[in-house]
Amino acid sequence: MRRVTVRAMERVRSFVLGGAGFIGSHLVDRLVERGPVTVFDNLSIGKRAFIAPHLASGAVNLVVGEALDEAALRQAMAGHDVVYHLSANPEARWGLERPRLDLEQGTIVTYNALESARLNGIKQFVFASSGTVYGNNPEPCGELDLSELPFSLYGASKIAGESMIAAYVECFGLRASICRFGNVVGRRGTHGAILDFCKKLKAHPEYLDVLGDGRQAKPYLHVTDCADGILFVHDHGKERLNVYNLAPPDITSVRRIAELCVQASPSPNARIEFAGGTQGWPGDVPVSRIKPDKLAALGFRVRHTSDKAVELSVKEVAREVFSPETA
Ligand SMILES: NC(=O)c1ccc[n+]([C@@H]2O[C@H](COP(=O)([O-])OP(=O)(O)OC[C@H]3O[C@@H](n4cnc5c(N)ncnc54)[C@H](O)[C@@H]3O)[C@@H](O)[C@H]2O)c1
Repeated sequence: MRRVTVRAMERVRSFVLGGAGFIGSHLVDRLVERGPVTVFDNLSIGKRAFIAPHLASGAVNLVVGEALDEAALRQAMAGHDVVYHLSANPEARWGLERPRLDLEQGTIVTYNALESARLNGIKQFVFASSGTVYGNNPEPCGELDLSELPFSLYGASKIAGESMIAAYVECFGLRASICRFGNVVGRRGTHGAILDFCKKLKAHPEYLDVLGDGRQAKPYLHVTDCADGILFVHDHGKERLNVYNLAPPDITSVRRIAELCVQASPSPNARIEFAGGTQGWPGDVPVSRIKPDKLAALGFRVRHTSDKAVELSVKEVAREVFSPETA
């Protein structure tokens, strides 16, 4: 298995905002190899169990705190070398019911994280962004293809966060890495289509209702590739502001995901019912493609195609959802 090379051998003190969540906990699995890690998380979505082995070994210190409380965040961040900012509203569609959610959990929390880093003299900042910044553009998007503005509140908060980071790089000497992920899948998922479908099939095994017509399609990124890619960009990015797509080149349809979830469930004959329409919900991009070429030129390629990432993740998530222990 390819491992990310560490730039320097000295121990790095990492601060992971949102580190008890899905992607954050996988990143923490890698970061403990580099030195002490502080996870700051309000546990609204994330779970202590996701980082339990590192808590037990003493490699990770968990601060249960709220990132909207800037003073608490600033205090916890003191004494670290790198900030990884992975907290956000995880579900774009939740913004439809609570339009302030992405402003608060996305834009304001990102400002609080940047300001806490600045006031603590921390110069390295890594941000979890998303392909939603490309808006409703069905063409494969490279990092400069921002002709379409995001059209979800979630995407709006991501592009606002990216712009603030660029300003902190210019104005306050920050070095930053921004990774625009595809849809991330794998073990310890806290949300997303695979988890949703498996939970629905567990609740009512005879059918699976799916939003849209099933032809929505996106690049699915395995969470292990996501964690490796984040560290690769941080280690190897040559600019003060490093912006990289992090996604496989292919895409997988919602229909395919639904079929795989049904096959992996205890009811493989369940019928799939599509609600119809091209979108899952207002603000959902029906088809998105993210070009990985810039990151490939830097030297990193994901190990799993989108189809492979989905196949593997359906097995991983099905094991978590349908196992007798979770009954
Ligand atoms: N999962 C994906 O498909 C995907 C795709 C693109 C980008 N991203 C981004 O990657 C990051 C991580 O996503 P994830 O899927 O791991 O989500 P997640 O919800 O599992 O992780 C986010 C973590 O942040 C914590 N958190 C949220 N608000 C907080 C607050 N105000 N204060 C303290 N902690 C808070 C949650 O408890 C959770 O543990 C997010 O920024 C997300 O927008 C995710």
